[in-house]
Amino acid sequence: MHLKKVSLFNFKNHSSTDLGFSEGINCFVGINGSGKTNLLDAIHYLALTKSALNTVDSQSISHGEDFFSIKGSIVNGDSESEVLCSFQAKQKKVFKVNKKEYGKLSEHIGKFPVVLIAPNDTDIIRDSSEIRRKFFDSILAQLDNHYLQLLIRYTHFLKQRNALLKQFAQNNNYDKDLLSPYSIELITLSKSIAIHRKKLVTNYLPIFKEHYRKLSEGRETVNIEYISKALLPNFEELFSSTIEKDLITQRTNIGIHKDEYDFHIDNNQLKKFGSQGQQKSFLVALKLTQFDIIKNEKNFKPILLLDDIFDKLDDLRIKKLIEMVANNNFGQLFITDARPERSKELLSSIEKDILFFEVVNGEVK
Ligand SMILES: Nc1ncnc2c1ncn2[C@@H]1O[C@H](COP(=O)(O)OP(=O)(O)OP(=O)(O)O)[C@@H](O)[C@H]1O
Ligand SMILES: [Mg+2]
Repeated sequence: MHLKKVSLFNFKNHSSTDLGFSEGINCFVGINGSGKTNLLDAIHYLALTKSALNTVDSQSISHGEDFFSIKGSIVNGDSESEVLCSFQAKQKKVFKVNKKEYGKLSEHIGKFPVVLIAPNDTDIIRDSSEIRRKFFDSILAQLDNHYLQLLIRYTHFLKQRNALLKQFAQNNNYDKDLLSPYSIELITLSKSIAIHRKKLVTNYLPIFKEHYRKLSEGRETVNIEYISKALLPNFEELFSSTIEKDLITQRTNIGIHKDEYDFHIDNNQLKKFGSQGQQKSFLVALKLTQFDIIKNEKNFKPILLLDDIFDKLDDLRIKKLIEMVANNNFGQLFITDARPERSKELLSSIEKDILFFEVVNGEVK
């Protein structure tokens, strides 16, 4: 799969940008703030219907304008699709494939998968467990739309159950019969979701370890452990016995929204004991594994977006990384770099077709 061309209109600092891409490597170079990451974000929109950076679509409209559009042509095998995402302030986002609109935006997820490695992705390692759940959930969602529907249902029932717990506290009562249907849904959904998550980690680990080994030349060993109460045989009992705490705290304290993914380096907690370069290597290996897992499942290669990837990695790891992503296991690649000389040199030995785009203040040469 590859992105053949893209047209941006009033998207962040790109007032009007039309680009045609190489099926191999595309490298956006330019000074800080020129609009390189914004180009990757536009591709992220086409794949995942939303920005990787802004939580609110209106922030993606060029300042002083009232709408943006992103149009892309995506080629997969023999078929070419035109994907259009447009957003007018205060209106519903429009998302169309070959001029046809979806009933729900979530139906699009997984059709044109991308894997993005961005500078603040190390939050996946350093932040609370919520962001790690989101990371693995986004992989599962791109793999299997059914999983996404399970998750949407879970979030819905969790919200309802929490609202009910709040209502009980306000009215100083507790109606077991009213709460029970929500608990039953959450228990059932937790069990199914945990099975999907466990399976993902099991498939993920050997590939992940191999990527990390290559990147670090075996200097450290790494591990990921998935921990969920929903996998325990007495999960239902545990759920029921948490009710007292739930009533006091006015929220649900057990279920897959509390699952943990523990990251280890040489048997220590990565967050506390990994260096910045080791954490970055871990992240890169996580993302390359995400790529492989999606590729194996879909039988085609996702698009890989590397934003400022070279920062914090030593020369050897950068060299390894370039070798890894430039080989034939990977498909179309987009890279940003504020230091054009460095990327030109790094990519000089690569045999793939490479295009350089110089980004200057929201315009591309
Ligand atoms: N909604 C918007 N309207 C206009 N300009 C915007 C909007 N959102 C962001 N920008 C501008 O886009 C620029 C940042 O673009 P981007 O993040 O793509 O830069 P970059 O080339 O990746 O820089 P760096 O090398 O620092 O990562 C900033 O100057 C910012 O003001
Ligand atoms: Mg950037």
